[in-house]
Amino acid sequence: MRIEPTGATCGAIVHGVDLSAALDPELVAEIRAAWLKHRVLAFTRQSMDDDALERFTVAMGGFGDDPFFEPIAGREHIAAILREADEKSPLFAENWHSDWSFLDVPPAGTCLLAIDIPPTGGDTYFADQIAAFAALPESRKEELRTYTAIHSAQLAYAPDGAYGEQDEGRSMAIRPDESARETRDHPLITRHPETGEEAIFSTLGYIIGIESMSQTDSFTMLSELAQWQTSDEFVYRHRWEPDMLVLWDNRSVLHRASGGYEGHRRELHRTTIAASSG
Ligand code: SIN
Repeated sequence: MRIEPTGATCGAIVHGVDLSAALDPELVAEIRAAWLKHRVLAFTRQSMDDDALERFTVAMGGFGDDPFFEPIAGREHIAAILREADEKSPLFAENWHSDWSFLDVPPAGTCLLAIDIPPTGGDTYFADQIAAFAALPESRKEELRTYTAIHSAQLAYAPDGAYGEQDEGRSMAIRPDESARETRDHPLITRHPETGEEAIFSTLGYIIGIESMSQTDSFTMLSELAQWQTSDEFVYRHRWEPDMLVLWDNRSVLHRASGGYEGHRRELHRTTIAASSG
């Protein structure tokens, strides 16, 4: 296995490993260590099917919950991130986020397996939240550590949310639900359970307010912070290739999808890795 760092603060390209074969414990430990270090790993030249994707997900920590997605036929834990060539609905996941941060126990990671990659565009961007926190002045770190963020999926997955009842013509199997209005508190600055590093956890969109702060002040603070969280110096832009598997750590990076592939189909199979204590 050869690991080639991307040159950004996060991300590495992994060559010379076959994830379609049986995964021996030593290899799994090596991949996990690289994942924690680089936060985003892109494995090239894979010939994985859905069975291999499931095996890999289980080896990395097991399946996490995927609320609001209907899985693909015949699989309980694989969702399709899909956009047909002629689709006109707004892009899925174009805003920065950490997957399912509004759950009681948000997932550790996410896997995306390339199924149908357009010839151009469709890059996934990652923003390193450990680096973003580390680069702040000490006084700002101290202040941010005092905040508790209120998370909710309501803006996206409630019936009146972005993927709700008015969202027409989408090929992805998204299932909006009233449960998206529930809220959960998480510290704004979290300590990574496996590395001990501090990170800014999640961002506007899934964070709808700060405890004991007015809505206006919360929004102003979170908007300014979001600019910092996603500054170019913390961002790795991932360009997809066919036969690629990407694995990221939701506890230390934000991510977002991007367009630029109008007239082409794009499909990736996604699994969620449950949180664990390592
Ligand atoms: C996602 O947020 O799961 C999708 C990312 C992408 O489509 O690039």
